Amino acid sequence: MTLYADTPKTLTITDLMAMKAAGEKIACLTAYDASFAGLLDSAGIDILLVGDSLGMVIQGYSSTLPVSVDDMIYHSRSVARARKRAFLIADLPFASYATPTMALMNAARLMQSADVQMIKIEGCHIETFITLTAQGIPVCGHLGLLPQSVHRLGGYRVQGRQQAQASRILDDALAIERAGAQLLVLECVPAGLASDIAHKLRIPVIGIGAGADCDGQVLVLYDMLDIGVGHRPRFSKNFMTGNDSIAAAIRHYCTDVKRGVFPGPEHSY
Ligand code: KIV
Repeated sequence: MTLYADTPKTLTITDLMAMKAAGEKIACLTAYDASFAGLLDSAGIDILLVGDSLGMVIQGYSSTLPVSVDDMIYHSRSVARARKRAFLIADLPFASYATPTMALMNAARLMQSADVQMIKIEGCHIETFITLTAQGIPVCGHLGLLPQSVHRLGGYRVQGRQQAQASRILDDALAIERAGAQLLVLECVPAGLASDIAHKLRIPVIGIGAGADCDGQVLVLYDMLDIGVGHRPRFSKNFMTGNDSIAAAIRHYCTDVKRGVFPGPEHSY
């Protein structure tokens, strides 16, 4: 039984916190345009993430690095025009938050021109979290696999398998929460580590390749519809299988997340 699925107003961070407290799983998908955003919103998806994954699935690049702040504004505006109920988050792209001042300017541009409710930043940039939060800009952290650091990491690999790395990710998660983050995305980490972090943090933890115990789940829309140009990662699932329309596949994903059926062990590490 969902508590917020029929909420007519646009969800706020307070609603997402209440969902965590009530044990209601949060369903999130990426969105890049108005048509899909409208479909996701009416299917009951709680969070629309305008991810810089658009560099790969929309623009056809081999990584997210070429995406610009202007690209993010263009796609966020398109999504914002169609959403009614879903909470809206947008990524700050590669190198657009190299200093807290740059982060503030670029986050403010996104919030003022594209009506997004929260900004997502990859990595543990404590000063930046403090600066944005002090200016009233809600921030979502992103730890584990950081796609913008793919060349430093040496590929898209599971993070936190070794004890030292796992402790570092947990410490970063706690530090980010203390610095004001109100949401955290955990990507490609062992399920046990993600579970530990989700239990230790007050803020909702949204997993992607992070096991079933997170407070919510996110997938790249084009992966779960199996229309991506690259290969579909193991942690994703083709929800078109057994569904006769895109809308049905999205509803199926939402239901499976809410019931805790997705992700299964085969999508976890
Ligand atoms: O850019 C993106 O789509 C993301 C998700 C993979 C979480 O950050």
